[in-house]
Amino acid sequence: MRTLLIAGNWKMNAGPTEAKELADGMVAARQGKDDSSDILICPPFISIPAVAESFSGSHLKVGAQNVHTEDNGAFTGETSTSMLNDTGCEYVIVGHSERREYFHEDDALIAQKAKKVLTDDLKVIVCVGEKLEDRKSGNHENIVRTQVKAVLDHVDANNADNFVIAYEPVWAIGTGETATPEQAQEMHQFIRSLLADAWGEDEAEKIRILYGGSMKPANAEELLSQTDVDGGLIGGASLKAESFSDIIDIAE
Ligand code: G3P
Repeated sequence: MRTLLIAGNWKMNAGPTEAKELADGMVAARQGKDDSSDILICPPFISIPAVAESFSGSHLKVGAQNVHTEDNGAFTGETSTSMLNDTGCEYVIVGHSERREYFHEDDALIAQKAKKVLTDDLKVIVCVGEKLEDRKSGNHENIVRTQVKAVLDHVDANNADNFVIAYEPVWAIGTGETATPEQAQEMHQFIRSLLADAWGEDEAEKIRILYGGSMKPANAEELLSQTDVDGGLIGGASLKAESFSDIIDIAE
C-alpha cells in the first residue's frame, strides 16, 4: 500500500511574509491530526525558509518547484540542490508544464534535473501530461510515454523510493476542468505500466503517481479513490489552508 502524497504547488504566489502566514495556517489546520498521508508545500524559492521555519516540528514538509543541474557557478537567478538541502527541502518538482511551456525546458533537461535531484538525496516529483490537442487527437499516451521514458532512461530502479510522478493534463491546470476519475486512472495505470517495463512490477508498485489539474475538495474523493492515484499535486486549492486541509481530510 502506497502512502498518499498531498502536495501543494504555490507557483509564483506568496512571498515570505504571506507564505509564513499561509504555512502557519496549514500547521494550525493539521495540529493534532494523525495524518497517514505525506503533506508537502512547494513555495517560491524565496519563501522556502519561511515555510520551513513554520513547518519545523510539524509533520508538514517543504519542497521546491524547480532546480538547476549544476552545483554552483555563473547561472544568474538559479538555485542548486545543495541550496535546497540547506533550507530543509525534501522534494523538488521538475518538468512542470509551465517550465516546459514558458521556459522551454525539454525532456532531456528535465531528465538531467531529475537525476541531479536524486543524486543529491532529494525526492523528485516529475511532471508529465498532454495538451488539449493531444488528448483530442488521441495522442495523449504517446506524449506521456515520451516524457516518462526520457526520464527513466537516465534514472534507475534504486531511486524508486525517492521517485514520484505527477500526471498533470495541461488542459486541466488552472482551468477548473478536471480529468474524470476514469481518465486519471487510465493514464496513471499506463504510467505504472511504463515504470514496470523499465524497473519491474515490484518497483513500479512502490512509485507514487499523483494527479494534478484542478483538484479541489469537491472532486478529490473520486480522484483519490482510483487504484493508481496516489495523491495530488494541487495549485490553486493549496493556497487556501482550509481547502488544502479539506483535501487532506478526504485523503485520510
Ligand atoms: O502543479 C500543480 C498545478 O499545475 C495544478 O494547478 O490550480 O489546476 O490545481 P491547479
